[in-house]
Amino acid sequence: MRKLIIAPSLLACDFSRLADEVKAVEQAGADWLHLDVMDGHFVPNISFGPVIVEATRRITKLPLDVQLMIEHPERFVEAFINAGADHLTVHVEADGLNTPDRIRTVLRDLRSRKIRAGLSVRPATPATAIQPYLGEIDQVLVMTVEPGFGGQAFIPTMVDKIRLIRDWFSGDIGVDGGINAQTATLAHEAGANLLVAGTYIFRHRDYRAAIDTLRAVQEAQKKRL
Ligand code: DX5
Repeated sequence: MRKLIIAPSLLACDFSRLADEVKAVEQAGADWLHLDVMDGHFVPNISFGPVIVEATRRITKLPLDVQLMIEHPERFVEAFINAGADHLTVHVEADGLNTPDRIRTVLRDLRSRKIRAGLSVRPATPATAIQPYLGEIDQVLVMTVEPGFGGQAFIPTMVDKIRLIRDWFSGDIGVDGGINAQTATLAHEAGANLLVAGTYIFRHRDYRAAIDTLRAVQEAQKKRL
């Protein structure tokens, strides 16, 4: 059973206190920090760019897991690596990655620079869309909501997609969107080992309690086996 990774999504934090929030989730036991980059084109929202990654890099040593919800990730790989991203996840649906060669070029470039490479799929995108590339990535991110905004409800049918990808892929499989103790259990049982959670953690009065509850999902699974 792969190690369970808890990655708070900073999109849900109080950005007026970014340093405090980052330190608080680090002290609360976060494994990674998830940063949602949005360009207002690939998703109907604009979040932040390399400058926030750079600021977060100065605050913590935790791995920065950056998800590029942007149409042209290939144009910004350099900028986010220079800003301090440790992982870069791109979307297979992005305009700039509309051929297999373009997808492979970005993934190979990331790995040649020792950056963990990830592919993410929107809810409507079938798992088969990323199947040809599984040998060239370190992690898959299954969006369990329509990307763009935090605080949405988990889409239960995504559990089947997680299970299918786990049959093909032995690397890290993440879920992102509407993750709480209940949905984390469903996702983990299907094979997910990376839990990206924003609202559940940052709206909780006790970040450690929220993270411990998510981490307990694996212990409970072990007991059931
Ligand atoms: C949605 C983002 C998610 C979000 C987390 O497009 O990719 O990472 O911040 O969602 P919640 O708040 O539901 O955990």
